[in-house]
Amino acid sequence: MHNIIIAIDGFSSTGKSSFAKLIAARLGILYLDSGAMYRAVTLYALNSGYITADHTIDEAALKADLDAGKVEIAFVRNEETGKYGITLNGADAETRIRQLDISGNVSYIAVIPFVRNFVDNLLHRYGENGCIMDGRDIGTAVFPNADLKIYMTADPAIRAQRRLDEMKAKGETASFEEVLQNVKERDYIDSHRAMNPLRKADDALELDNSHMTFDDQMKWLGGVLKERFGIDF
Ligand code: CDP
Repeated sequence: MHNIIIAIDGFSSTGKSSFAKLIAARLGILYLDSGAMYRAVTLYALNSGYITADHTIDEAALKADLDAGKVEIAFVRNEETGKYGITLNGADAETRIRQLDISGNVSYIAVIPFVRNFVDNLLHRYGENGCIMDGRDIGTAVFPNADLKIYMTADPAIRAQRRLDEMKAKGETASFEEVLQNVKERDYIDSHRAMNPLRKADDALELDNSHMTFDDQMKWLGGVLKERFGIDF
């Protein structure tokens, strides 16, 4: 089962990453968060002053740096926890990339084709020998031949509340309206961009978890794994 590739796509805050992490742990496969890669590129661009307040990106400068190898992004295994975290030019970036200023700019960075190619190369390098990967275009573009594709959706207000709860648990402050606006804005940009927009792959299974508990979801997945691969989950 080690070479299995599971692709999970969907809107923000549908719970893709917590679902994927648990599946990875249970199946003993690698979990990779493709959004973290886009977030890390966004962090680099912000730190370099390449993004203006109205989200205009200095694409020429960003491209020059990517081409010159100035942006090193890696998934690095933490030996203590066994978990993988993202680094930008050698420094841990896991916490920083989840903050609201990154969320507010990441979709503008993710529409840029040369950024998508840069991230796709990294994702292939890390994931091609088996993984569960979540994102927006994993089942449609990154791994179109994935063994299993799941497309997750949920009501926007429920997703915003989940994101807000997550932020509060980390001690971050934001209003519900602010988070809901970010969720809706990214939904729109992610599903309307020219290159590899978010959409359900024809062969993906749709999972609307608006009113599902985590347990419900795991049971659903257990049924799928049994039926598709004969795995007792
Ligand atoms: O965690 P959340 O769903 O809010 O977002 P994420 O997975 O961290 O992804 C952040 C952003 O990166 C998304 O809103 C997309 O704009 C972009 N992204 C993408 O374009 N393609 C992917 N495969 C993953 C993320």
